[in-house]
Amino acid sequence: MPFPLQVLLYKFTMLVTKCVMKFVPDAKPTVLTGEGASLKLAGTIGHLGLKKVLIVTDAVLVKLGVIEPIANALQEKGIEVVVFDGVEPDPSFSVVEAGLEHLKQNSCDSVLAVGGGSSIDAAKVIALAASNHKTPRQLEGRFIAKLPALPLFAIPTTAGTGSEVTVAAVISDPEAGDKKLVLDPKLVPMAAALDPAIMVGLPPGVTAATGMDALTHAVEAYLSNFATKETDAYAVSATQMILGNLETAYEDGSNLEAREAMSLASFYAGLAFTKAFVGYVHAIAHQFGAKYHTPHGFANALVLPHILEFSKDRVSGRLATLAVACGLGDASENDWTLAQKFIDKIWAMNEAMGIPKTLEALKEHDIPAIADAAMHEGNYTYPVPKYMQTEECHDILRKLLPVTS
Ligand SMILES: [Fe+2]
Repeated sequence: MPFPLQVLLYKFTMLVTKCVMKFVPDAKPTVLTGEGASLKLAGTIGHLGLKKVLIVTDAVLVKLGVIEPIANALQEKGIEVVVFDGVEPDPSFSVVEAGLEHLKQNSCDSVLAVGGGSSIDAAKVIALAASNHKTPRQLEGRFIAKLPALPLFAIPTTAGTGSEVTVAAVISDPEAGDKKLVLDPKLVPMAAALDPAIMVGLPPGVTAATGMDALTHAVEAYLSNFATKETDAYAVSATQMILGNLETAYEDGSNLEAREAMSLASFYAGLAFTKAFVGYVHAIAHQFGAKYHTPHGFANALVLPHILEFSKDRVSGRLATLAVACGLGDASENDWTLAQKFIDKIWAMNEAMGIPKTLEALKEHDIPAIADAAMHEGNYTYPVPKYMQTEECHDILRKLLPVTS
């Protein structure tokens, strides 16, 4: 099919998606912020009359002592605590099924996610599957569940995924070699705690990657054809806070002010992209994750400046607005110059935080399959501002090849 006709098909698909999204109820968690917010959330849960909560987390956080004070705070409120610490990065259906089984065996009536996006996504599906008497796999797709999830709470320990506010959860399917999406507004937690104190132990590399994930959410949502005044406000605020604080949090992990700004920025970026969606950066980054297990935020950081360069002729005005909002230039400068300043800032942030320009794992012979999968995901899922041809995706991927290959 000629490219212009393909674009018409993509635009029609996005129009249908936009119509469907209008009927999705607006769901936002109650948010507690600031140092100690995670312990205050325990108090909130105590007022809801819940008896036994399942904490969904990973073994590293248990070992680091992150879970213990939260569990103690819940127990002080008379709530029994059961811990499921089997979550791994990119959790599979079997991990979620194990967590669900743990919940049933212990008759838990609520779920608290403590961790990064993997733990929060797993907890979301566990809580929804439990109340709907379904297996996690049966929830794959859009708006499958009939009943609300079990009371669900989240304490993110990274500032990046925004999963504490989004209507989606991504679960790996190793048998199919891909990732499955559960999309449902019932997945949004009742309450979330954005606690900078819980993030001080994050290694700099994780701080950088997760922060660049949040920046990608904000920027892709801002450039999306689904962007609204509301999503724009969240996206611009998130971008300002990330450009102003991420490098500080990377250099000095104990800087609570920078950590708090990043946790709020990640939350705002989540509010923006849960309505406006993301774009080609995520479409390509997801393929790197599926094929090479590249950490999601790291993959986004690598791809983001390339996609902005590709889209610049279509979105220079929007990028110029972001540049001015972030103090990178003056509104009297022309859009093209300001847009380039914004892109250059992203290159500079990557360099300052040790994010390379190439992906060591990427192989030349993998490029066609990665491009095909990324174009399929991007074109049929995201309201991108400028459509890409497969050959253009090949060109971008070749720029990411390691120098030696
Ligand atoms: Fe992301």
